[in-house]
Amino acid sequence: MVKAFALLAAFVTLACAKPHVARDMLLHDRRDAAPRGFVKSGPAPADSEIKLRLALKQTDIEGLQSALIDVSTPKSANYGNHLSKEEVEEYVAPKAESVDAVNAWLSENGLTAATLSPAGDWLGFTTTVSKANELFDADFSTFTHTATGVSSIRTLEYSIPAVLKGHLDLVHPTTSFSTPKQSKNVISLPVKVSNITEDASSSCSSSITPACVQSLYGIPTTLATQTNNQLAVAGFIDQYANSADLKTFLKDFRKDLPSTNTFTLQTLDGGSNPQSSSQAGVEADLDVQYTVGLASGVPTVFVSVGDSYQDGDLEGFLDIVNYLLAESTVPTVMTTSYGENESDMSIDLAVKLCNAYAQLGARGTSVLFASGDGGVSGSQSQDCDTFVPTFPSGCPYLTSVGATTGVNPETAASLSAGGFSNYFGVPDWQSDAVSGYLDQLGDTNSGLYNASGRGYPDVAALGQSVEIVYQGKTTGVDGTSCASPMFASVVALLNDKLIAAGQSPLGFLNPFLYSTGASALNDITDGNNPGCNTDGFSATEGWDPVTGLGSPNFAALLEAVGL
Ligand SMILES: *[C@@H]1O[C@H](CO)[C@@H](O)[C@H](O)[C@H]1NC(C)=O
Ligand SMILES: *[C@@H]1O[C@H](CO)[C@@H](O)[C@H](O)[C@H]1NC(C)=O
Ligand SMILES: *[C@@H]1O[C@H](CO)[C@@H](O)[C@H](O)[C@H]1NC(C)=O
Repeated sequence: MVKAFALLAAFVTLACAKPHVARDMLLHDRRDAAPRGFVKSGPAPADSEIKLRLALKQTDIEGLQSALIDVSTPKSANYGNHLSKEEVEEYVAPKAESVDAVNAWLSENGLTAATLSPAGDWLGFTTTVSKANELFDADFSTFTHTATGVSSIRTLEYSIPAVLKGHLDLVHPTTSFSTPKQSKNVISLPVKVSNITEDASSSCSSSITPACVQSLYGIPTTLATQTNNQLAVAGFIDQYANSADLKTFLKDFRKDLPSTNTFTLQTLDGGSNPQSSSQAGVEADLDVQYTVGLASGVPTVFVSVGDSYQDGDLEGFLDIVNYLLAESTVPTVMTTSYGENESDMSIDLAVKLCNAYAQLGARGTSVLFASGDGGVSGSQSQDCDTFVPTFPSGCPYLTSVGATTGVNPETAASLSAGGFSNYFGVPDWQSDAVSGYLDQLGDTNSGLYNASGRGYPDVAALGQSVEIVYQGKTTGVDGTSCASPMFASVVALLNDKLIAAGQSPLGFLNPFLYSTGASALNDITDGNNPGCNTDGFSATEGWDPVTGLGSPNFAALLEAVGL
């Protein structure tokens, strides 16, 4: 029903789209219809305000990508020589001629823009719908997200002046749609919350505690020693990390840690972290408890992104990266348990965000994301005809973390989102792993996924029946949300040892993981990730799109990094 309606609405939109005016304009982006779940509900009021962002062409993004691979590949002579803030900005800042062309066009139109990123590659200005339609030959309309009734102003196509070709990469928000807050594009809010009685915690087969994770992966319990090492936990959508819940969690599950262990706070976009128990967020509590509670003694910061986004409905995803890139020292690890369906985002925008993660990687941050909780059906389970890739897991410049269950044996969790991107091709470092898997797969699921896409997740960790303390009570949660902080803690502890030995932190992990690191992971070979009325993919020997290369083995990883 919904689908037919959406198609009909799209047809009407196209039929009514106004003819191109006689200025020298070039069609820049278009989509046939709004993503499933959205319908066009009418024109946007002509005098409504709209905040637009312009992405200027970066001087040499391919150069940055090559530099990233160079400093992240173990056999490279430059391995570990991460780039400075200035070096990264030299690659991504727009050329003077691009800045001049865009500024001249802005002033011809009586507009001035603010700079939104440290390298000056993002500009923003506010205008009205009618002016925006005129500037970009667009048809900004009101689209309603059917499930929540929330509406947003978008256009299915837009053009840019020919004089800006090669200077302006994209205008946002235009053709990207973001699922509204209430149901939110939070992929990884734990799918299930169940009550766990405290005495169940004695067995790792019924529920997972820090002690279970430490024993399964051989994670040291001793305190980290390096103060210039930092694990960042990203927080969005008013999910607040509660210090009292963390304190109770540590008292119950990490009696050996000093009771003073906690996290520090950074905020942007009007973010905050109020501490009343009723405001504690289950996702944020989980994320700080399985970082502070596992990465023993690693300085941990909760970065709370508020609702005053500067990135136009990316809900702070780009803002947090630009915020961190503006710092002279970036965190060595960042874990994020939020995300959305890849198809909600325009490809141009997805590429821009992905390149922002590449910048963090080049500076030396290991960027980790939960892969999603809907198996092959995407961020959360839902009806689907073809498999639904998640974002940002399809971005090749980050490490996507899937979920496992059980300790004896550890198998794939059926919720673990995995598959292949429709937007990003297979990167070099992954091509053997993916072709090996596809050879074994044969015709299974053919036509349901993109065999030339980047495969995800890259790795996995426990994500079922994980005990946390939430609003004062012990609770069990499920989701790749659990797995990403756990894997991030392992990386943070490896970095502690590397820094202590006078070496660089690991930075962008994938070229290492898919080469010398692969045999240092526990290969998960059982289980699958059903969805879209199929059994999904199966975990197999080697990489698979359910558990990636596997879960961490700390001692083996330490050896693989040369310690
Ligand atoms: C993902 O896309 C599907 C349709 O393909 C939609 O039903 C679902 O609501 C979307 N989920 C999120 C969290 O955006
Ligand atoms: C958990 O227990 C609380 C009361 O302590 C109850 O309100 C809630 O419904 C229970 N949740 C589940 C999933 O059983
Ligand atoms: C499949 O992935 C490739 C590589 O990213 C891409 O070029 C192609 O458009 C994708 N196909 C579909 C149907 O999305």
